[in-house]
Amino acid sequence: MKILQTSPIPLDTKSLLSSLGIEVEMGNGMMTKEEIAESIKGKDGIICLLRDKIDADVINSGADLKIIANYAVGYDNIDINLAKEKSIFVTNTPNVLTDTTADLAFSLLLSSARRIAEADRYVRRGDFHGWKPDEMLGCDVNGKTLGIFGFGRIGQAVAMRAKGFSMRIIYTGSEDKNIEGCEFVDFETLLRESDFISLNASLNEKSRHSFTIREFLRMKRSAIIINTARGALIKEDDLAEALEKRIIRYAGIDVYEFEPKINEKLLNLENIILAPHMGSATEETRKRMAEICIESIKEVLINKRRPSSCVN
Ligand code: GLV
Ligand code: GLV
Repeated sequence: MKILQTSPIPLDTKSLLSSLGIEVEMGNGMMTKEEIAESIKGKDGIICLLRDKIDADVINSGADLKIIANYAVGYDNIDINLAKEKSIFVTNTPNVLTDTTADLAFSLLLSSARRIAEADRYVRRGDFHGWKPDEMLGCDVNGKTLGIFGFGRIGQAVAMRAKGFSMRIIYTGSEDKNIEGCEFVDFETLLRESDFISLNASLNEKSRHSFTIREFLRMKRSAIIINTARGALIKEDDLAEALEKRIIRYAGIDVYEFEPKINEKLLNLENIILAPHMGSATEETRKRMAEICIESIKEVLINKRRPSSCVN
């Protein structure tokens, strides 16, 4: 058996799988869609990254595919319905990155409130000349309202952290999760009452562009938005306008609408922290994600079972 792995991941998959009779063709992490479509021919499975678009063209060219193992929790890069029609399992890497991603969301929240990235640039520029009453003023986090958009595992883990900062927690999502100390509200209430909004929803046709200028205008002028989920939940041009005109105060952003391209307008603003899609980026978590991918490949190709992290 053979699989295509579009990028090295932090496990020696080649030796781990070769002992089971599975050969790995290794990509360089920057394969184009066309290259993937070509290399996937004759492969029984693929381990891919969230940057790899596994659409109909790719799936149709992988006539022997039995499993698509995404090295990510989000899977908006994959046509999971077509895969299902063709009896191909699609798997992700849930759970292991929940706390890691929530940590990043909360880091961005605190860093946005206290302008940490700006402050670092300020000191390096040589602008710090001794303590001043009005230097680098930010805003408090404790006692403020945190609105969580998408209350799945990661959203709930962000809420747990917020409790430690004595925040009031409100959220929107598919349903009331009945979690102590967290209030289920409608979207308009979330926009109106939140001092901070953390985006933790998955991207789909319904959630795409949930935040446009219309929503920014309904938020507090002092509001801070944090996105560690998917860039296209926000219309990026509108975010740039809202930050530039101070319709909202600040943003902490880890994911981009047209990744890896970043809107030029955002790059020129001071009131935003920009991170390079690093929610799950710890040594421990990236290794655990790799283990799940290997486990899923084994379950399908060797044990002929439905893998536990199957999403379709
Ligand atoms: C990262 O964004 C992931 O979906 O794992
Ligand atoms: C993803 O892990 C989520 O459910 O938030």
